[in-house]
Amino acid sequence: MPIRPAPDADLTACEFFAGGGLAGLGLSLDGAGFHTVLANDIDAAKARAFRANHPDTPLIHDDVWTVTPDQIPGAPDLCWASSPCQDVSLAGARGGLKAQRSGAFWGFWKLMQGLDAEGRAPPVIVLENVVGLLTSGEGQDFAAVCGAMAEAGYTVGALEIDAGLWLPQSRPRLFIVAMRGVEGPRLPAPTQPFHSSRLIAAWERLPEPVKTNWAWWRLAVPPRRNLDLATVLESDAPCFAPAETQALLAMLSPLHRARLEAIQASGERRVGAAFRRVRVKNGQKLQRLEIRFDGLAGCLRTPSGGSSRQYVVIVEGGRIAMRRLTGREAARLMGVSDAYRLPASESASLKLMGDAVAVPVVEALTRGLFLPALTGRQAEAAA
Ligand SMILES: C[S@@+](CC[C@H](N)C(=O)[O-])C[C@H]1O[C@@H](n2cnc3c(N)ncnc32)[C@H](O)[C@@H]1O
Repeated sequence: MPIRPAPDADLTACEFFAGGGLAGLGLSLDGAGFHTVLANDIDAAKARAFRANHPDTPLIHDDVWTVTPDQIPGAPDLCWASSPCQDVSLAGARGGLKAQRSGAFWGFWKLMQGLDAEGRAPPVIVLENVVGLLTSGEGQDFAAVCGAMAEAGYTVGALEIDAGLWLPQSRPRLFIVAMRGVEGPRLPAPTQPFHSSRLIAAWERLPEPVKTNWAWWRLAVPPRRNLDLATVLESDAPCFAPAETQALLAMLSPLHRARLEAIQASGERRVGAAFRRVRVKNGQKLQRLEIRFDGLAGCLRTPSGGSSRQYVVIVEGGRIAMRRLTGREAARLMGVSDAYRLPASESASLKLMGDAVAVPVVEALTRGLFLPALTGRQAEAAA
């Protein structure tokens, strides 16, 4: 792909590990934020979804290790990387960043170094990942990422943000934000909720030179969420036959069964979310159905195994109906509008959304952190 000049007027972003392009949706702030000038993803299904929704954005459908600086237009203001999380995920095996898929971060980083060598390094770099990155490889992965950024002259900081502050989905994620040549708003000391105790513990383990280049980025806490799981449901999605529902309910633990029975007895309409999990009791593996009725869905996951399927449980007038969460509901749980074109298959939609970043979280970072830093720089240049 040849070099293309980046548009002048906009703040520009490149989106790596772009998936369906949800980071770009958040960064764009509906046209008031960043203009994505290049995206990259290795996966064919993700590339199809990306192109269907962002037909004007150049996408390199290939391994990030094959992307070269000459394919990146102009000098991007921000580069975003949502590198694969499977190997550091608390839900999976702990291979750490050295494992094959998570190692893709270093392909991204090589590219950032290439841009730097040409004087085109972005002033803002963001790595989104699972919170497990704080502890994977006994903390060495987090230290390696932050260390590489600090060594390149960036001020580094991180935030642990749960999308549940905006959306009816519990989805804690780690955002490492590095800035160079621009000043983002910061706090004198770590502050809840975005500087969690596990983040502070990970920071304490960092080598001294990284700690001295560290910033506790400031981000406003949003007003209380007014969306509930019930508000994202599709009204016409078919429920399971009674026998299938009964088979699932038979997997409830006594505690979860008691909770469900109390709701049934109240006669109220309540919507819950449930996952199947394998639990070990007295040395034996048990299939359990775990239900929550706190108005939140559980964290969306990629539907690669039985335990990652999420169910919707509707209790009304003492009756219980169950069904799978739909792809459209998953998209709504990520803050994606219904105008977003989902793949035709439910499983591809669920995979797309299960891997993605929640749009309102990216919007909050854009408004609260990236734009103040970058527009401050523009104001200085104009003065
Ligand atoms: C956690 S998902 C990020 C999804 C994205 N943020 C979104 O909102 O849809 C990680 C993505 O990295 C892609 N990926 C994995 N290894 C890659 C590689 N070596 N080069 C480029 N992309 C890769 C996967 O296909 C996947 O879409």
